Amino acid sequence: MTNYINKVAFVTGAASGIGFALCESLLAKNAKVMMADMNGPGLAEAIEKLGGASDNLSSVVCDVRNPESVKSAANQTLADFGKVHIVMNNAGVGLAGKSGQTDLKDWQWIVDINLMGVVYGVEIFTPLIKSHGEGGHILNTASMAGHMTTEYMPPYHATKFAVVGYSESIAQELSHDNIRVSCLCPTWVKSNIASSARQRPSAGVTMPAPSLKAAQDSVSALVANGMEADRMAELTLAMMAQGRLHVFNDPEARPAIDIRAKSLAADYDAALNWMKTN
Ligand SMILES: NC(=O)c1ccc[n+]([C@@H]2O[C@H](COP(=O)([O-])OP(=O)(O)OC[C@H]3O[C@@H](n4cnc5c(N)ncnc54)[C@H](O)[C@@H]3O)[C@@H](O)[C@H]2O)c1
Repeated sequence: MTNYINKVAFVTGAASGIGFALCESLLAKNAKVMMADMNGPGLAEAIEKLGGASDNLSSVVCDVRNPESVKSAANQTLADFGKVHIVMNNAGVGLAGKSGQTDLKDWQWIVDINLMGVVYGVEIFTPLIKSHGEGGHILNTASMAGHMTTEYMPPYHATKFAVVGYSESIAQELSHDNIRVSCLCPTWVKSNIASSARQRPSAGVTMPAPSLKAAQDSVSALVANGMEADRMAELTLAMMAQGRLHVFNDPEARPAIDIRAKSLAADYDAALNWMKTN
């Protein structure tokens, strides 16, 4: 898919940050856009910012944790636009945590949104894209946190590594159906992600430990100084049009890819060497 004219796009997490910017960029490229988000008032404000509902723009309240909600949003997309070509499974939340100290309900919460929300989007929309035979494109939002790790963020890394692996796998299979898959893997982008952990089940019940609080504050500062979301969106649509599988954004994080590859190779070679002599 090399241009977006008259293509129908479904975007989750559309009320804020990267999702909102993706909707704005798609509209500017003459796509038709269905904005989906669980935050109803935020969604209403976002659609007004884009000029209000029209033949090219609609919105639906959708909680990506709930497959019935995603199915109903898919039906609404078909009712409003007739078909769907592009699905952007972008809704996501952040969560810092230390092993043995993270509330298991919080773990379930982030897995349900960041991983299962993407899975439901793919499972429910793929047959709809296949049905019209015009091809399509799925964008799953992961993160650079799906390619490299830091301490104190295991739940976030676990979900984002999963989305990278999942996207790489379905990209192979869906290429046979003229459906491209891309995986968005940015570092810091200006958005409201740093406050998303306030929605976690344990919020207000458990205070984060001081070391975690420091990690959260540093994430907030990095996000506040990150790439503008509209530039991230333009870059994403350009990389999708090139058929790129991964979409990166940060020159400073580039070495992390080689460092990880070297570290994997070293572990691999250690095992091969041991097997030669044992
Ligand atoms: N901002 C960054 O620095 C950054 C970096 C890498 C990856 N990401 C990823 O980008 C994606 C978008 O995040 P953002 O940075 O724009 O944050 P954001 O908080 O500004 O936007 C996220 C949106 O998702 C919505 N959302 C949350 N849970 C939902 C649910 N269950 N169902 C439907 N909608 C839900 C929120 O209401 C919000 O509008 C996330 O997947 C995030 O992990 C962000």
